Amino acid sequence: MDSRNLLYEGKAKSVFQGESPNEVIIGFRDDMTAGDGARKETMGQKGYINSIICAKIFETLEDAGVKTQLIELCEPCVMKAKKLDMIPIEVIVRNIATGSIIRKFPFEDKAPFNPPLIQMDFKDDQFHDPMLNDAIAIALGIATKEDLDKLRELALEVNEVMTKMFKDIGIILVDFKIEFGKDSEGNIILGDEISPDSCRLWDAETLDILDKELFRQGKDDEVINAYEEVFNRLLSEEDRV
Ligand code: C5P
Repeated sequence: MDSRNLLYEGKAKSVFQGESPNEVIIGFRDDMTAGDGARKETMGQKGYINSIICAKIFETLEDAGVKTQLIELCEPCVMKAKKLDMIPIEVIVRNIATGSIIRKFPFEDKAPFNPPLIQMDFKDDQFHDPMLNDAIAIALGIATKEDLDKLRELALEVNEVMTKMFKDIGIILVDFKIEFGKDSEGNIILGDEISPDSCRLWDAETLDILDKELFRQGKDDEVINAYEEVFNRLLSEEDRV
């Protein structure tokens, strides 16, 4: 990954121009941030683990008919992907009430959402990712009504596939955040990453936390063990790079 080809540096990933104009190379780093980037640490192996988990989830979604940005995981931490014009919306799907939604609204802690709750936040650090509604997103010019409907439809499809995928390995998919972009033909495609950084995952028996929430709670020494647990349950031997 040649730094001269760097297109964008996020909090945990770097995006480089790929060999062809319609391709990018996404580098998964070990950086971990919380509180709008206020706290930043390096977690050894996180980039490795997350890139492999993300590729596995994207492949499973592709098999289920959901188009993703993934072309291939070239090697751990290095993903070749379709170049997308990213939509600055964080689409959050919640199956269980926890996190920011119970700090903002009087939902009971751990109450199930049925149907799942879809929330959209404006991805903008300066404005601290405020919650959107359709009218605001349209007025900002970041999405059309059709785009927003498509995002909701795709988000529910992703939720359905991932809920089953995790249930099969004894994990409850509590909630997650996904991002989408448009390809050169204007198709909306799932991009960015899905990993324990962007999901809440609870062990189905013990309700132990297996995701970034541990870092948010300051339990830094437990983070990688939890991510490894997800990795080990999700990836069969032949999947391992
Ligand atoms: O903090 P909150 O409850 O809104 O988070 C909902 C879900 O979205 C969690 O799974 C969290 O990991 C994810 N999220 C994220 N990136 C953000 C905000 C939330 O991955 N910027």
